[in-house]
Amino acid sequence: MGAMVNLCDVRAIVTGAASGIGRQFSLQLVRSGASVVAADIDADGLRTLAREAQGIPGKLLTTQVDVTREDEVKAAVEDALARFDRLDTLVNCAGVLRDGLLVAPEEQWVRKLPTAQWKAVIDTNLTGPYLMAREVAAAMLRSGVGSGLVVNVSSVTSKGNPGQSNYSASKAGLDALTRTWALELAPHNIRVAGIAPGITDTPMLATMSAEQREQLLAQVPLGRVGTTEELWLALEFIIKCDYFTARVIEVDGGATF
Ligand SMILES: NC(=O)c1ccc[n+]([C@@H]2O[C@H](COP(=O)([O-])OP(=O)(O)OC[C@H]3O[C@@H](n4cnc5c(N)ncnc54)[C@H](O)[C@@H]3O)[C@@H](O)[C@H]2O)c1
Repeated sequence: MGAMVNLCDVRAIVTGAASGIGRQFSLQLVRSGASVVAADIDADGLRTLAREAQGIPGKLLTTQVDVTREDEVKAAVEDALARFDRLDTLVNCAGVLRDGLLVAPEEQWVRKLPTAQWKAVIDTNLTGPYLMAREVAAAMLRSGVGSGLVVNVSSVTSKGNPGQSNYSASKAGLDALTRTWALELAPHNIRVAGIAPGITDTPMLATMSAEQREQLLAQVPLGRVGTTEELWLALEFIIKCDYFTARVIEVDGGATF
């Protein structure tokens, strides 16, 4: 009780580990001596990550999983448990961006946000973390792990952002889950916290148009994009500080979305 968590003792599963923020988190955890199951839908990306992690002190294993699929999530968590005996940390980082206005006038008609585009983002960014957290927390309760941690990667645009109905709603929902699960799981000594990045330099950012990026940057007082290394500092703090739960840390250069 009250002790600082040692990163060497961490047994984590990180989703979205093949790219960007999840990749940085996985590599930093392994560099710190932690054991990591890197989970992602992208098998090639996982293979590249595994090669990069070779020779680093901690242990990195990979598992291919689509976080929107209940059967695959259950299998991935069982697989992780079989390889590590216990899991004490889940980092929900897998996420997608499929921007579009709710409605937009075209020449003779009105373009509507397609339902499939809405669902793709809600499924990955909200249902995915729910399935992962449910399975990992159930495993924590079953194995009687002394303490546990779930970290949800949200976004500064959870407060609403034009063109991001699906994305903003998924992240606002995720923040609500962070608070809800923190309260439900505190009696089991499982902490739940969030990190809300601002505009961060990752392959996801590269999918945005130059105009979109300019528009977002105009709302960042520090006037630059953030780095995944800066986000790692937030994750490191959350893991180490045993008294931190139910809160979302914004690392966003002061962004005013
Ligand atoms: N980059 C930013 O500016 C930014 C800002 C705020 C929040 N975020 C959030 O950070 C997280 C990571 O984003 P990133 O910038 O590193 O993106 P990224 O595209 O570089 O990485 C996302 C990873 O998630 C994986 N993924 C996607 N769908 C999946 C699924 N169904 N199952 C398993 N894995 C899946 C992808 O294969 C990819 O490896 C996301 O949740 C994103 O919403 C990013």
